[in-house]
Amino acid sequence: MDIYQTATQRRSIREFKDKAVPYEILEKCVNAARLAPSAANRQLIEYVIVDDEKLMPSMFDAVASWFGVSRPKEGWPPGRRPKAYIVSLIDLEAEAERGVGRTNALFDVGMAAENIVLVAEEAGLGSCAITGFSPNRLRQVLNVPAKYETALMLALGYPDESPVVEVATDSIERYMDDKGVRHIPKRELKDILHRNRFP
Ligand SMILES: Cc1cc2nc3c(=O)[nH]c(=O)nc-3n(C[C@H](O)[C@H](O)[C@H](O)COP(=O)(O)O)c2cc1C
Repeated sequence: MDIYQTATQRRSIREFKDKAVPYEILEKCVNAARLAPSAANRQLIEYVIVDDEKLMPSMFDAVASWFGVSRPKEGWPPGRRPKAYIVSLIDLEAEAERGVGRTNALFDVGMAAENIVLVAEEAGLGSCAITGFSPNRLRQVLNVPAKYETALMLALGYPDESPVVEVATDSIERYMDDKGVRHIPKRELKDILHRNRFP
């Protein structure tokens, strides 16, 4: 797939096959993140690859928000949960020293995360970015030192769902239909694109 296809066909995936993800793919994802744009090249972000099966239940439990309201109360069965996570950490000491500001640090996280997502996608993996997690629980599970902020989780695995994109007309609210398919309304290009000056 070329980059345009990969970027446009990608959807957030929250249900996965019961199939392990090779560590080499995850490492490749982080290498692509390492080489992402970085404000003033300050490189404040570090990563934790989590692929130890023993950690999966606690990682899943650290997530508070899966697709908003449609997470079943009990969660979904372990066989359909993410098989790996990549956690982005901001080194707060480096941030204070190299000072590019909060916003730039967060932009770095986002730009690097998209590199991870696209490389994962190309390797046949699905992913879901997650900020709806408990930072304290995640810190405990991974024993993250105090100098790091846990900025973003990316859940990964081989996809076992096919969310569909639709044109957002009245609402941008995502929903799951009665067949369990997630629907993702996206605003149309004509509604978000401006060329040159506003009239
Ligand atoms: C910064 C950020 C945080 C997100 N946090 C969560 C989250 O906590 N839980 C979740 O299920 N999805 C989360 N998502 C995924 C979005 O819900 C998803 O991108 C959105 O519904 C659009 O769907 P799509 O990715 O398939 O285009 C997050 C995405 C981004 C970019």
